Amino acid sequence: MIGKLNHVAIAVPDLDAAVSIYRDTLGAEVSEPVILPEHGVTVVFVELPNTRIELLQPLGEQSPIGRFLEKNPAGGMHHLCYEVEDIETAAAHLTALGARVLGNGRPRIGAHGKPVLFLHPKDFCGTLVELEQA
Ligand code: CO
Repeated sequence: MIGKLNHVAIAVPDLDAAVSIYRDTLGAEVSEPVILPEHGVTVVFVELPNTRIELLQPLGEQSPIGRFLEKNPAGGMHHLCYEVEDIETAAAHLTALGARVLGNGRPRIGAHGKPVLFLHPKDFCGTLVELEQA
């Protein structure tokens, strides 16, 4: 069911420092920061030949990554995003198998303007999984 790895998201406490690590130390191509108030993050996209890395810095008090950074003050891998062809089919299939979809259980529009959903880490090897309709 899952297809390509769309991105790996890393939560960071200091986006400028993270950009410097990826651009200057690792020599990757890094986008300008994109402010996404509706998602509670500022994000930078690191473009790699086969996928991308998203560096997420919390934005505002209600940021979904605020608590993660409290537990992981140096930052850390936050989630993996896999592509699926049809998010409604994927959601129905997974919930029928007992997997938990976070939030209200429905897909919503994600940071790339495409429908996404998040799956409970306890059901997926301890990793928060995002599915994005390709
Ligand atoms: Co993501």
